[in-house]
Amino acid sequence: MSSLFSKTIALGKELKITDQEFANLRDFIYEQCGIYIADNRKYLLENRLGNRLKKLNLRNFDEYYNYLRFDAGKVGEMKKLFEVITTNETSFYRNPPQLQVFQEKVLTDVLEGCRASGRKLRIWSAGCSTGEEPYTIAMIIHELLRADVANWDIRITANDLSDRVLESARKGEYNDYTLRTTPKEIVQRYFEPENGLYAVKPEVKRLVSFGQINLRDRAQLKRVERSQIVFCRNVIIYFDDAMKKQVISAFYDNLLPGGYLIIGHSESLHNITRAFKPIHFPGAIIYKKEG
Ligand SMILES: C[S@@+](CC[C@H](N)C(=O)[O-])C[C@H]1O[C@@H](n2cnc3c(N)ncnc32)[C@H](O)[C@@H]1O
Repeated sequence: MSSLFSKTIALGKELKITDQEFANLRDFIYEQCGIYIADNRKYLLENRLGNRLKKLNLRNFDEYYNYLRFDAGKVGEMKKLFEVITTNETSFYRNPPQLQVFQEKVLTDVLEGCRASGRKLRIWSAGCSTGEEPYTIAMIIHELLRADVANWDIRITANDLSDRVLESARKGEYNDYTLRTTPKEIVQRYFEPENGLYAVKPEVKRLVSFGQINLRDRAQLKRVERSQIVFCRNVIIYFDDAMKKQVISAFYDNLLPGGYLIIGHSESLHNITRAFKPIHFPGAIIYKKEG
């Protein structure tokens, strides 16, 4: 009874964000990483940042805003901010129909194209979260090339804003929930069971290199090696149109002529760009840079 009572008091003390504090923080977050938090998701900042305020002993969201803008500890706190505001949901073999098109149409076409020109394959997984997407791509490459994979120069560049998810991606250990749509034979072939978890095998890990990138930062995007395929699934959904245009145009510039862009199934380039040719397959639209 007494613990219930004290919980009620604690809940009563939950910090509320004012409209002005919300607007300041929303604009700041947008400037920093392009994630746009709509007015009807004010509760999200209140809930997710409330704990940061408590940890830092700050009295209100205005103090937190000023801390982020002016305090010396800001670099570390920016990382924490990115961790709490990003949504990192992902899984292996996410959206199987789209991946089937990737394997049977996109990858076969690209591999055919570069067989004659040095067997060099570059794929960019932008917004890779905890690594399931780039490792899935690596497994599909292994499935297609089998032993011949050793004769190719392959790199999957996998980036995210959050250092925390990248750390977990590099570890490469997963629970069975994230493998729920992965074919059984793939699990057997490319994972090592370890203490109740599944560890990605070295031959898959070898193809992926992880690094921190903020998609808001044009200079960083320009430094990514040019690719034949860009994956950016379930990321631009968090951006407004201006940020979507900026990021998609960076992908266009990064792609080699004839390259492909793959976005999430609920995302669209409508009103964003006409530079790509959409190719319609059952269960997936893939975007091609002609040339
Ligand atoms: C929902 S996850 C998608 C993961 C994976 N692509 C998939 O479809 O399963 C979105 C990821 O985008 C990342 N992200 C969001 N804004 C970003 C930015 N400005 N720069 C880099 N990554 C960002 C988040 O940290 C998060 O891990």
